[in-house]
This record gives sequence, C-alpha cells and structure tokens, in this order.
Amino acid sequence: MPAPVRVLFVCLGNICRSPIAEAVFRARVRAAGLAAQVIVDSAGTGAWHVGKPPDSRAIRMGHARGFDLAGLRARQVAPADLATFDFVLAMDRSNRDALLSMAAPAHRDRIALLLDHAPHTGLREVSDPYYGDDSDFAQVLDLVEAAADGLLLAVRERLAC
Ligand code: 4NP
Repeated sequence: MPAPVRVLFVCLGNICRSPIAEAVFRARVRAAGLAAQVIVDSAGTGAWHVGKPPDSRAIRMGHARGFDLAGLRARQVAPADLATFDFVLAMDRSNRDALLSMAAPAHRDRIALLLDHAPHTGLREVSDPYYGDDSDFAQVLDLVEAAADGLLLAVRERLAC
C-alpha cells in the first residue's frame, strides 16, 4: 500500500471550525473507503484551548448532521506539522498567513485555504463562529461540506501519484 496522504485542518482555537472540518472530512474519507490511506487531523494556531473538547455548539450541530466531534481534543499546530502533512488547510487568511510564516520555504505550497477547494461557493474564508450563534455554526458546516468533494478529489489525485 502507498504512503498515506495526510490532511490537517487549521483554525484559531481548534474548538469550532477545524474540528468540524476534521469530523466531516473523516466521515467522507471513510464513506469513500479510503480510511486506511488518508490521515485526517486538526489544530489551532492559538494555544488558549489546548486539551479541551470542541465547543458544545460544534459538537451538537455536528451531531445533528451525523458527524461525531465528541472525542476530539484541541492542540496547537507545531512547525513539524508543516513538514508532515501533505495538505494544510486554513479556515481563513489570518490563519493561513500564520502557517506560512511558520513553514520552511519548501513546505509553503502545502498550505492553502480550505475554500480553495470550493470555488462554487464564491467565498474564500470560513468565518469564525465563536462569538456567533447556531446559524454561524450551520454556515461552517455548510462550507466544510461544500469543500469536501473537491478536497477528496485532490487527495485521490495525490494517492494516485
Ligand atoms: P475556531 O474558533 O478558531 O474556529 O476554533 C475560535 C475559538 C476560540 C477563540 C477564537 C476562535 N478564542 O478567541 O478563544
């Protein structure tokens, strides 16, 4: 079997957007029969919530769509992640820029915005829902689900290399 493809989702706190993306994409990978070949993880550029479970709204609203976030725990992105993961997908430009400033030049092309995989949305960023309400979390789920097909295609292409 070829080496697995590694996918890391990154937001600020790793308690709202990126754990949602991790759970949604892991479910898509599993449904595609690729669980043994694709490693999915998430992390935050900030350290405030390290060790904490996702925000209760992310857990509840993810669960309502069939995604399980309850066992996830926040961690901070480390420079080594940028050498390890093949796809490092930031939720917004601010987090993307933080990742670019951490990365060795040879690894910068691994870093992108998640919504680069969802051009049909017309959006580039998944907005921070932390100070918002349930509708903001629903929007995160909508956008992450909208990006999953395109990202899965890119992962399949990488697996075929
Ligand atoms: P996330 O949301 O980056 O989607 O996990 C946030 C969670 C916590 C904070 C900011 C954003 N915070 O400032 O504590």
